[in-house]
Amino acid sequence: MHFPVMAEEAIELLAVRPEGIYIDATAGLGGHTGLIAARLTTGLVIANDRDAQSIGIAKRNTAEWAGRIHFYRGSFETLPQTLAAEGIEKAHGLLADLGVSRYQLTAPERGFTFLADGPLDMRMDQTTGTTAADLVNYTAEKALADLIFQLGEERRARRIARAIVRARPIRSTLHLADVVSRAAPRTNRLHPGTKTFMALRMAVNDEPGELDKLLELAPTLVASGGRVVAISFMSIEDRKVKEKFRALGREGRAIVLTRRPIQPSPEEVRRNPSSRSAKLRALEMR
Ligand SMILES: C[S@@+](CC[C@H](N)C(=O)[O-])C[C@H]1O[C@@H](n2cnc3c(N)ncnc32)[C@H](O)[C@@H]1O
Repeated sequence: MHFPVMAEEAIELLAVRPEGIYIDATAGLGGHTGLIAARLTTGLVIANDRDAQSIGIAKRNTAEWAGRIHFYRGSFETLPQTLAAEGIEKAHGLLADLGVSRYQLTAPERGFTFLADGPLDMRMDQTTGTTAADLVNYTAEKALADLIFQLGEERRARRIARAIVRARPIRSTLHLADVVSRAAPRTNRLHPGTKTFMALRMAVNDEPGELDKLLELAPTLVASGGRVVAISFMSIEDRKVKEKFRALGREGRAIVLTRRPIQPSPEEVRRNPSSRSAKLRALEMR
């Protein structure tokens, strides 16, 4: 069962109109895409994701509304071309549910999980770019420590980087999880590998850089009166969203609809524990 995060809140803040055109920048498994499509009559969802497998799953999950959804595979920077290809100048709303999907996070062959063995890949787009194996095996120790510290907010980054360098070549997800667990044993409920894996995943996919691009593009993709809704799971991402939204507000280009981020209800967290760190912010273009 797939539960799109803060579904009701996201759809309400997008203010979906039956004839509107909406960009789901991060279609994932199609959860939010389907919810938007279900509210449309003559409207359209442009459903984008950089992960080809996810698009395949999203297509199956949203088959009921296939006529109202056009899927595209691409990173955020391709969104302007996608709109142009559709012959659309601006959309009525844009949703971004950042990070990785349940499918990506749990499928061992994608290499994001430390709970099952798999190749150290972690690329959302498997057609291009550096893998997590490349990063752990070829990055200099100091740079690796900085990466784990900055992106994973892991205080034991130096110790972990040293252990990784000593254990090279790191061959698989469980091999890496074992090296990290020995270097920095568990001190709380988190698996010792959590922050290191998160940092690597963010670096492999340049998630901070991609978010910067999206935040630059979003105001140019959405028409006046249209909404931008962003859901983030990491404090560094929420900070970027907050700052960009505030800046757009100050410049008079948009109205911030969420003074504070909206967080999932206790019921949602109970049903879907991985939603617990989600923060939603929304903006209306002027
Ligand atoms: C949290 S999931 C989205 C889940 C989706 N809202 C749902 O309900 O099924 C995030 C998705 O965004 C995609 N993604 C992340 N960064 C991206 C980027 N820069 N460009 C395109 N897609 C991206 C990932 O591949 C992943 O499938």
